[in-house]
Amino acid sequence: MTESSTQSTSQPTETQPPIDIESAVIGVLGGTGEQGRGLATRFADAGLNVIIGSRTAERATDVAREIGDAVRGMSNEDTAMASDIVIVAVPWEGHRELLESLATSLSGKIVVDCVNPLGFDKGGAFGLNVPEGSAAQQAQAALPNSVVVAAFHHISAKLLLDPEIVSLSGDVLVVGDDRPATDAIQTLAGKLTGMRGVYAGRLRNAGQVEAFTANLISMNRRYKGHAGVHITDID
Ligand SMILES: NC(=O)c1ccc[n+]([C@@H]2O[C@H](COP(=O)([O-])OP(=O)(O)OC[C@H]3O[C@@H](n4cnc5c(N)ncnc54)[C@H](OP(=O)(O)O)[C@@H]3O)[C@@H](O)[C@H]2O)c1
Repeated sequence: MTESSTQSTSQPTETQPPIDIESAVIGVLGGTGEQGRGLATRFADAGLNVIIGSRTAERATDVAREIGDAVRGMSNEDTAMASDIVIVAVPWEGHRELLESLATSLSGKIVVDCVNPLGFDKGGAFGLNVPEGSAAQQAQAALPNSVVVAAFHHISAKLLLDPEIVSLSGDVLVVGDDRPATDAIQTLAGKLTGMRGVYAGRLRNAGQVEAFTANLISMNRRYKGHAGVHITDID
């Protein structure tokens, strides 16, 4: 088997390097929820241009106002159109439907998926079987003209939203097939004070990154914490 034949079969659109995070508009679909609001707050604190999206524009503007003057709120569709980089922070249950509905608006954009397809039962959290392999691969299938990157799965919204925590810690695993896009999202991850973006493989390897969140949730329950990830021995 040749090396190329072992690589992902997805054909993401190439982006033009380099991507300037400082001047990019960062949109967050589902930005009214805990994870989206946490990321939006931290990115706005870092001086980035942030829009939060919602299924209801009014809810987005209300939550944006609570976060601060630097953040705007819009419908998910307007957020997708107005942003250069769009983070998907909605529950797994609404993931495919939302992205399919926004495929045109998200065309040509970098779409960052942080969705963890998890189930919960008496034994705790567990990774769901996703027909496409992962939420990120499902996103790429729904968005053939976007560049999908997977990141921000392992940061607890509770920590992001805690104003007492000025500096976070740990690594953000960044998965994707397009080098300029994964480089840009590593830079974006580094805007979370105390954190580092680490390239962690191609999109076909997103499934275990997403499912590992079930292990972190088990750790949280046992040790009463907000466990994250720290990769050793890389610069
Ligand atoms: N919470 C965490 O600590 C954490 C950490 C890492 C990753 N994640 C991932 O981030 C995603 C969001 O987590 P969350 O805790 O922020 O979730 P959430 O608060 O339950 O939902 C986020 C937002 O998504 C929108 N939404 C809800 N149902 C929807 C649907 N069926 N279709 C489209 N939009 C819908 C809602 O906004 P509107 O009603 O305003 O549209 C809601 O405020 C999840 O996939 C999760 O796996 C979460």
